[in-house]
Amino acid sequence: MRSKQAGFRGKNMSLADDESAQTEVVDTIEQARSRIRQWKQAGQSIAFVPTMGNLHAGHLALVKAANESGMRTVVSIFVNPKQFGHNEDLDTYPRTFDEDIAALSAYRVDMLFAPDAAEIYPQGADATTSVHVRGLSDMLEGECRPGFFIGVATVVNILFNVIEPDVAWFGEKDYQQLLVIRKMVQDMALPIAIKSVPTVREGDGLAMSSRNSYLTDQQRKLAVNLYACLQHVVDQIIQGVDYTYAVVHANQELTEAGFLTDYIVVRRQEDLGVPGKHDKSLIVLGAARLDGTRLIDNIPFELMK
Ligand code: PAJ
Repeated sequence: MRSKQAGFRGKNMSLADDESAQTEVVDTIEQARSRIRQWKQAGQSIAFVPTMGNLHAGHLALVKAANESGMRTVVSIFVNPKQFGHNEDLDTYPRTFDEDIAALSAYRVDMLFAPDAAEIYPQGADATTSVHVRGLSDMLEGECRPGFFIGVATVVNILFNVIEPDVAWFGEKDYQQLLVIRKMVQDMALPIAIKSVPTVREGDGLAMSSRNSYLTDQQRKLAVNLYACLQHVVDQIIQGVDYTYAVVHANQELTEAGFLTDYIVVRRQEDLGVPGKHDKSLIVLGAARLDGTRLIDNIPFELMK
């Protein structure tokens, strides 16, 4: 068991009285539940930020938003084996626990839940009951990464059952994931509000991602083309260019820049359905690979009514 980093708050203490308290790190479901129970009994609400660690400014924007809600803030770090395909990067995914703790120290994190795989999947990730959010899970990312959203929905469901948050925060960077979680919560009647923060980007526009660390210096320079191409699609559509033309053009641009494109599509923000001519709230989504590194990004936009 990981050692607890600090004590916890007395039951009658308000959050404001106790701003200086450090993060309590727990790695078992039982420990997490017992602290959550105390908070619930004291009538306190819980804001939850699930992550896979290797925290960057994108993750921290979620933690900040959770803090600002005035609720107890719980963050989880769990590199979820169930959402990685057999040919994917589970073994090499960056694990930086000490740096993550240091990054979180700038915020008020009441509990960091960091279980190992055996705690979450005692019988193994393949043997566990799975959550399949039909339809939404099976397109785009779900088509390129079979089983990915089943892994995500399953682990988020387990984490929700342990943490019992009132609000859970997700990034718009993973837009399809956000919608999958929203639909899961709706379909399963979970009493949890799902909130989101916009994508946090590097200075040149590249969406922050733990996987950016896989890029060589040269690839890092090329990587911004994904965002630039998506932005170009948005600009063209706003100027009246047909979206089917704009995405074909963006695909060519990315290929010329050295990417292998998985998809670039324009969809409805609401449900990622193919837009009709009356749909105004749209989003362009793209996924492309630079050698072995797969990048995803999206830009939501509105057309004039
Ligand atoms: P992870 O990739 O660690 O991301 C955790 C959360 O941070 C997600 O909600 C993601 O959308 C958000 N995030 C990542 N990069 C961001 C950026 N540049 N700007 C804003 N938000 C960003 O997503 C996962 O982990 C996992 O699938 C998880 C939901 C934890 C389930 O295992």
